[in-house]
Amino acid sequence: MNNIFKFALGILSTLVFAWLAFVVGARAQFGDLEPTSSTLNEDGSIPEDADLYPKAFSGIAQQGAVEYVSLGCATCHTQQVRLVEAGFDVERGWGKRPSVPRDYILQNEVSIGNTRVGPDLANVGLRDYSDEWLHQHLFEPQSLVEDSICPPSPFLYEIKDEPSANTILIKNDKEDKHIVPSLRAERIVAYLQSLKQDYELPEISFVEEPKISDDEIAEETEAIEVDSNATQLPSWLAEQISSGKEIYMKAAPGGGLCFTCHQPNGQGLAGQFPPLAGSDWVLGDKERLIKITMHGLMGEIEVNGVKYNNVMAPPGIPPGSLTNQQIADVLTYIRNDWGNSASSISKEEVKTIRESVKDRPAMQMWTAAELEAN
Ligand code: HEC
Ligand code: HEC
Repeated sequence: MNNIFKFALGILSTLVFAWLAFVVGARAQFGDLEPTSSTLNEDGSIPEDADLYPKAFSGIAQQGAVEYVSLGCATCHTQQVRLVEAGFDVERGWGKRPSVPRDYILQNEVSIGNTRVGPDLANVGLRDYSDEWLHQHLFEPQSLVEDSICPPSPFLYEIKDEPSANTILIKNDKEDKHIVPSLRAERIVAYLQSLKQDYELPEISFVEEPKISDDEIAEETEAIEVDSNATQLPSWLAEQISSGKEIYMKAAPGGGLCFTCHQPNGQGLAGQFPPLAGSDWVLGDKERLIKITMHGLMGEIEVNGVKYNNVMAPPGIPPGSLTNQQIADVLTYIRNDWGNSASSISKEEVKTIRESVKDRPAMQMWTAAELEAN
């Protein structure tokens, strides 16, 4: 009897914690997102008369989104600029900045996708393709890009023998064609032209493309060499910090995704995500810091004199999966950037704390009160 009770309780708590982490947590982080201005006032409010982003799609573009889904375009195309290793997708020219959850809030059909057989389309509307080009590509990609495996959709067009005002010319080796787009084709092209993340948001800025001359680089390197003789970090520490920074910024398995909430500059987001710069949570007690990086944190806390009451699900992809070494590295990093300076954390220290709480369910977030009581 007793065992059945424990068994049921075990199952119940597993479900409750999973629900807290994945439903309540996600809702708390993303549920209240609304359009906002590129920059906020100091008190976190939206400046008067500011343009709000993202903008809603036009009706025809929303209809195009439905066609896009029904034609299966998302099986080969993603619509999310990813921040792989600091700006990789941006370097490919797929966008000006990584995509963030707020970019999608006004779309009825969100086609983020996950497989990239073709290029990412989150910003195809910024690539200066004319409507004619996009129609021709939709009709027969191979007439524009030799050997393209993007499937042609000739059934969306009417083919005419003679040119007229509303026909588009398809030049071909064999014979020229004149096509008239159907309504479905018009919708898809309107949708593609609307796909653009050409605005900044408080949580994300454009990735700066460094335009540095060779002379400047040479000067910089000299300066660093001179400098580093004076205050050179031991190589193991420099390695931990750079690996930690990668984990902080990484949005793929093995990453911590920390930047999406606490921001690349460690300043957090007013009212939602607390800052790590200057935080005594970060600079203070290591045990507390390690525990919340393993299991997450919820409920009211105070950081730099400001109260927050939000949820941090166990960090990592998947949640709670960061290894001892990864936790040691990412914490050593946040203790030593943005003006922070505190001792490093080793993987042995993380291991000791992990063992001391080994009976704790993996998804059970800490509360400030509980951490104080320990
Ligand atoms: C079988 C995988 C596949 C499917 C399905 C697919 N595409 Fe493509 N797509 C590609 C590949 C590969 C390319 C790159 C070669 C090219 O430009 O034709 C591409 C290129 C494109 C481009 C040009 C992008 C650029 O920036 O140059 C557009 C626009 C596009 N696809 C739209 C679509 C639409 C709309 C659909 C659905 C009707 C679709 N694709 C379905 C594979 C696919
Ligand atoms: C999905 C958003 C999110 C992600 C990702 C995230 N955090 Fe947090 N973090 C929060 C929130 C929200 C809180 C405050 C929780 C509360 O109110 O109880 C917090 C609190 C903290 C705190 C204590 C308060 C402070 O500001 O010093 C630290 C330290 C911290 N997070 C570090 C990290 C690290 C390191 C990572 C990556 C491994 C990370 N966080 C990933 C949202 C996030």
